[in-house]
Amino acid sequence: MRKALIIAVMAIAAVSCGNNASKTTRIPEDPRVEQLLKKMTLEEKVGQTVLFTSDWTVTGPSMRSGYLEDIKAGRCGSLLNAYTADFTREVQRIAVEETRLGIPILFGYDVIHGFRTIFPINLGMSCSWDIDAIEESARIAAEEAAAAGLQWTYSPMCDISVEPRWGRISEGSGEDPYLGSLIAAAMTRGYQGDDLSKDNTILACVKHFAAYGAPQAGRDYNTVDMSERWFREFYLPPYKAAIDAGALSVMASFNELDGVPAHASKHLMTDILKGEWGFEGFVVSDYTGINEMIMHGYAENEEHAAELSMNAGLDMDMMSAAYMNHMTGLVKSGKVSEKTLDEAVRRILNIKAALGLLDDPYKYCDPEREKARTLTAENKAFARKLAAESMVLLKNNGILPLKKGEKVAVLGPMANTRDDLLGSWRAAGEVEAVPAGIEDAIKEVTPVTSSSNKVVLVLGEPWGWTGEAASRTSINLPKEQTELLKALKKQGKQVAVVLLNGRPLDLSAESELADAILEAWYPGTMGAYAVADVLFGDYNPSGKLSVTFPRSLGQVPIYHYAKNTGRPYIHPDAKYESRYLDCPNEPLYAFGHGLSYTTFEYSDIVIGDARSESGMTIKADGTLTVRTTVTNTGSVEGTETVQLYIRDLVGSVTRPVRQLKGFERVTLKPGESKEVTFTIDKEMLSFYRQDMTWGPEPGDFKVFIGGASDNTKEASFRYEI
Ligand code: GLC
Repeated sequence: MRKALIIAVMAIAAVSCGNNASKTTRIPEDPRVEQLLKKMTLEEKVGQTVLFTSDWTVTGPSMRSGYLEDIKAGRCGSLLNAYTADFTREVQRIAVEETRLGIPILFGYDVIHGFRTIFPINLGMSCSWDIDAIEESARIAAEEAAAAGLQWTYSPMCDISVEPRWGRISEGSGEDPYLGSLIAAAMTRGYQGDDLSKDNTILACVKHFAAYGAPQAGRDYNTVDMSERWFREFYLPPYKAAIDAGALSVMASFNELDGVPAHASKHLMTDILKGEWGFEGFVVSDYTGINEMIMHGYAENEEHAAELSMNAGLDMDMMSAAYMNHMTGLVKSGKVSEKTLDEAVRRILNIKAALGLLDDPYKYCDPEREKARTLTAENKAFARKLAAESMVLLKNNGILPLKKGEKVAVLGPMANTRDDLLGSWRAAGEVEAVPAGIEDAIKEVTPVTSSSNKVVLVLGEPWGWTGEAASRTSINLPKEQTELLKALKKQGKQVAVVLLNGRPLDLSAESELADAILEAWYPGTMGAYAVADVLFGDYNPSGKLSVTFPRSLGQVPIYHYAKNTGRPYIHPDAKYESRYLDCPNEPLYAFGHGLSYTTFEYSDIVIGDARSESGMTIKADGTLTVRTTVTNTGSVEGTETVQLYIRDLVGSVTRPVRQLKGFERVTLKPGESKEVTFTIDKEMLSFYRQDMTWGPEPGDFKVFIGGASDNTKEASFRYEI
């Protein structure tokens, strides 16, 4: 009987998803802004609400030739997709020295999962559940981006999604509002730090506001329609968490919500964001999003679209030119008040001031600093570690970890890829040489021979199959890849599949054939090294799925916070229960699933100080501790993400069968045990009740603790007002 060393580990659930008062950051009102506003002509004010793209990168359906002339003429106050210290310095010089008021340009770019050093795609990073590491990745990205003349990133992407057909599920943090909220706040902190005026911090941008991740049929830009209750409880929290963490810009989403395009939604931008939450930053459109309201059938024409957006609270126009073309006339005609325009310009100029641009417009344009701060050995080492932490071991019959020196063939259509490792939104990223990465790791292993009995088979999706405008009607691997796996198994090979992909896949066939499956996502600059580190056990995989992997697309949407229904599928042969004729209800791999090279055992849940008997009660504002002891029962050190779920058995509206309300990552040596304690309070029990007020209701609850949403110990407790 191993002597278990018990160390208490306290985990307190801290994120509120409710509508409690926001802790939005107050922006210092810079007196120079008011002085500028007084001097500005109407045209110069409109110019500050205009954002154009450079011709360095294409991230939308149209380009803008002559953007430098626009800047010189005061028609454009911000520029996206332009970087390097030298180029931004030249553009800044034009703005500062060749315009009447010399207001500096704000440079923005999609720094989504790194700038030069690329981290795993965000869906991958979210599977690390390592909030501190995700914050550090954003801090590094900000340092590299700010050194290259940028002050603004269009990140964090806070869109919750249960839609694997949607290509942009790759850019978010999965299906869970609690995990997504923690990540949104962490990335905001990482980007903005504690002082936006520092030369290594950048402005975060909360996107895409809102509920962009729920397009019908999983088709990008498609209609979103859900109840206000579902929206507020499951889709809104990550945006709010980022705002509460201090994010000072927000990007409107392409979709309509409840019949109103987000780009003209007063409900979203004025009532919720600037009203309920007291947001003091500015709202930017998505790429030509204002003009697209004509196609939505919501605006008569471009002028009408400009009027609707500005009056709804949208402060800056990315690439429609609708504000440039019509805002002066709209103000003169009174359709948009000059007060409204001034408020938009004030918000934008206050941010430029907070970034230090009014003090020193060239502070971000230092080529020496740019060289010194990007793709450093430290940044790459961190990227390698985070990539390994993001990988999820979905299946393993013992073939992994590989042993140094054994014969292994590395095969598959993606075995030698470099480009795919970066995934979509790769910014100015680079890949460390893949052959070196893989060869380094398997140097001790005899090169491929026909007698290699073990195969590492690298499969997946080309990186362009996910990201923007990349929805698929199938979530299967390409047929020929599955056929290759089948052929190798027919030859009697042992096969460890490594997946490079950006969405949950239907791996039903592959899970039957493969001896192991490692979900590696698009792991970034150091991805190949990280894959080798995991395959050879130099890093014991610890990732946990942040999104459900279905058995079939026919099950979608499928997620862990489902409702019980009035006819839950309980009796295998019953007819009149909620089930399929051709497929189990359960997913192939559940939310929170992820294996290790070791094993972990959980004790029964102890509620309060008693054994895990039912009947323990939380009263009013009281709290209740629940604890479990986790033991590493295997032979290697490993990290386990201990997850806490809660179920409200009866409510004034039906409640999910479980909701993630806390987690703690614990690293244990073989034989070591740790007691993990969670404190349950009424905030964790709260929801939008039938009258849409936020709060708890008295009654019986279940608590679940375990290493996956479908693998938990459970206990009961009561809540009383
Ligand atoms: C794109 C994306 C958005 C991105 C923007 C600028 O259309 O929707 O996420 O930040 O344009 O590139």
